Amino acid sequence: MQSWAAAIEALPLARSLSASIWLYPLVNAGHVLGIALLLGAVVPLDLRLLGAWRAQPLLPLWTVLGQTAAAGLGLAMACGALLFVTRATEYLASPLFVAKMVCLTVGIGNAAWLRLKSGDSPCWHAQPPLHARMAAVVSLVAWLATMVLGRWIGYR
Ligand code: HEM
Repeated sequence: MQSWAAAIEALPLARSLSASIWLYPLVNAGHVLGIALLLGAVVPLDLRLLGAWRAQPLLPLWTVLGQTAAAGLGLAMACGALLFVTRATEYLASPLFVAKMVCLTVGIGNAAWLRLKSGDSPCWHAQPPLHARMAAVVSLVAWLATMVLGRWIGYR
């Protein structure tokens, strides 16, 4: 695993990212923008599923915030992968990074499960069913933990 990580670090892309004084900060800014879109969409959607803003129709929030979260996640993952290749060996040996990847996997699996079970247009009214409320709790914990662990890696 470590030799595989060392080979990734030696790629020209990884070397250019590490060497450039503007490329790495730009990719990092893309990562932060993706995180902002993801959490900025997931938190209000999950709170709505848990009973906040009950007077607001759920379907438009489900569609708009779901797509915003997916776009944010895609951007965070693409930029995160670029940040990863610059110091792959170090990150793979970090328990904080591994824990972050576990939380990320839980967040993605939970969101995919809820979307598959509910479809594009769930016909829930004021109170979503128990499974959707449970998925909202898992989602809040998984995504907030991913964010905290991601920030923590910088202070290890
Ligand atoms: C494939 C997915 C991802 C990968 C490979 C990845 C990788 C990374 C890497 C390598 C760093 C730099 C760590 C450092 O040395 O300080 C980082 C920073 C960070 N990541 Fe991720 N990340 C991913 C997704 C996410 C997601 C989904 C979130 C949030 C929910 C997140 C939150 C953060 C945060 C808050 C930082 C610190 C940013 C800063 O303060 O500049 N990451 N990530």
